[in-house]
Amino acid sequence: MASPFQPDQFIAGHVRDIPRSGIREFFDIVQSMPDVISLGVGEPDFVTPWHIREAAIYALERGRTSYTSNLGLLKLREAISGYVEKKFGISYDSRKQILVTVGVSEALDIALRAVVNPGDEVLYHEPCYVSYSPSITMTHGVAVPVSCSADNGFALTAEAIEKAGTARAKALILNFPTNPTGGTMTRTELLKIADVVLRRNLLVITDEIYAELTFEGEHVSIASLPGMKERTVFLHGFSKAYAMTGFRIGYACGPAELIEAMMRIHQYSMLCASIISQEAALEAIQNGEADTIEMREQYRLRRNFIVDAFNAMGLTCPLPRGSFYAFPCVKSTGLGSKEFAVKLLEQEKVACVPGSAFGPGGEGYLRCCFATALDQIQVATERLARFVERLRR
Ligand SMILES: Cc1ncc(COP(=O)(O)O)c(C=O)c1O
Repeated sequence: MASPFQPDQFIAGHVRDIPRSGIREFFDIVQSMPDVISLGVGEPDFVTPWHIREAAIYALERGRTSYTSNLGLLKLREAISGYVEKKFGISYDSRKQILVTVGVSEALDIALRAVVNPGDEVLYHEPCYVSYSPSITMTHGVAVPVSCSADNGFALTAEAIEKAGTARAKALILNFPTNPTGGTMTRTELLKIADVVLRRNLLVITDEIYAELTFEGEHVSIASLPGMKERTVFLHGFSKAYAMTGFRIGYACGPAELIEAMMRIHQYSMLCASIISQEAALEAIQNGEADTIEMREQYRLRRNFIVDAFNAMGLTCPLPRGSFYAFPCVKSTGLGSKEFAVKLLEQEKVACVPGSAFGPGGEGYLRCCFATALDQIQVATERLARFVERLRR
């Protein structure tokens, strides 16, 4: 008799071992509870600006419902080329060095799939965005975290990269401003990292999705530094700067050979990004700068408020220089970050993500997204202060 079909046995080993996202797990609980104030999921509370939504509607009205070139609409790639040159000082050929993707998520996935051979090491700084390590694992690569210490504000140093991994290290993923810590890098610091990258002959995959949400100082892309454009895949998207998470649209820029390799994967897995989203992205990149600035200034007000509130309740919280995340330390309460987040949710109905969801270095911290209305943040911090006071009694 045939043995019973067991779906579990059919799951590839390396996929079975991938943990569920710590954020999603937590927010499944949140969704089932009424009256919760969420500082959880990293998503703008703003609706996509009207002129961008209108561009999507207009695309539909005109019957723009077809596939596009695998690389994306040429007019969008030309606009991206102009934008990246103006904003980041890096020039890319719109015909062969730019690929429009389904968000930075897809761009990251295909960049890794294009370059990683089984057993190759990929370095990334940690605590970090939840998808880096699993995305590396899914390519049969070896994920090598470069731990950043809370003692120096989770800064990534050239020395730490120098020591990380082995001779099999092939690529380095960078993310500035950083999710979840809000950290940024100066030109001087990046130059030191570029130096190690050159010496170790690494490829850089730089995720700059929060670049427009830089509050202090200039945003510098490592791809703009001498000798780096040739060995960097630059990833960017529309989700955060233009509040367009649901459009699922992003892009990758890099050396033609790498973009071509990524395009071949994209061609067979995705074919192309949605034409409606591409039309909306074109409107965003051409006419959306004022919206981005306006949203960033709102985030700045909220950031200043939430950081002051955390420090006033005795939870040390440095000022994030970019992104929309505050990363206060909860160690003084005696609770681990998951226990803190669960109890806070149960007792005060405020949802934050335990820092441990972003890697072991995040333990003892909480990620609080301030892309939430200020009045909600005010109530959330009052509840948090009450909770912390009770813990200390
Ligand atoms: C650092 C980072 N990269 C990429 C993404 C995903 O971006 P997208 O919506 O463009 O796929 C996120 C989303 O939170 C993020 O924080």
